[in-house]
Amino acid sequence: MDIREQYKKDVGEYAANLVNSDTVIGLGTGSTATYFVAALADRLRAGALRNVMGVPTSEKTAAQARAEGIPLTDLHAHPVLAAAFDGADEIDPHLTLIKGLGGALLREKIVAASATAFYVFGDSAKMIKTLGVVTPVPVEIVDFARSLCERRLTALGAKTILRLRDGKPQITDEGHVILDAFFDGIGDPTALDRAIKDIPGVVETGLFIGLTTAALVAGPNGVTVHPRS
Ligand code: A5P
Repeated sequence: MDIREQYKKDVGEYAANLVNSDTVIGLGTGSTATYFVAALADRLRAGALRNVMGVPTSEKTAAQARAEGIPLTDLHAHPVLAAAFDGADEIDPHLTLIKGLGGALLREKIVAASATAFYVFGDSAKMIKTLGVVTPVPVEIVDFARSLCERRLTALGAKTILRLRDGKPQITDEGHVILDAFFDGIGDPTALDRAIKDIPGVVETGLFIGLTTAALVAGPNGVTVHPRS
């Protein structure tokens, strides 16, 4: 296992140890979340945890959780979650995030916003000063509005690329498509998020602002916890 993979495993396991019995929690999506879900299932099987149910942020995570025997529920039955645990693509010093390179940003944001505490995990390479220098902002849109969204995002300074999978537009779990918007650095994430959301046809952006309770970051010295200040 290479070192970044080891960090993902370390932080996934660390996060699983934060889960308490008798709770309903959000289950994130992505390669780090996969380790979290596996470690959570291990704790349940070992009897170290009891009566935990998960609200998955994607069909992929739902399938893993089912296969590992984690009971699932939804936000209709459990509108307020004790906590949600998820990965991120970039984390800035205010714990504002870019998420959604895995395509699950819409459900991820709904689940994070439904949780009393939102823990984001990643390795130290994901901690950056300025969001969006390297990573695009994934923007989930209604396909009908694609050309309008592309034009308006370009007017906001982005270069956009339609997300493809196997040569075809990637369809999200909620039936939309994703434009990856490259901004070459984001000075004001809140203003940008509002401006993108004002575009007709935009469903959600991958900017997660004011949601994170703490970032769990794995690196050479183990996992460090960065609470939001
Ligand atoms: C999924 O849509 C994303 O938001 C992921 O949580 C994010 O891309 C992090 O994924 P990795 O853990 O695979 O880096």
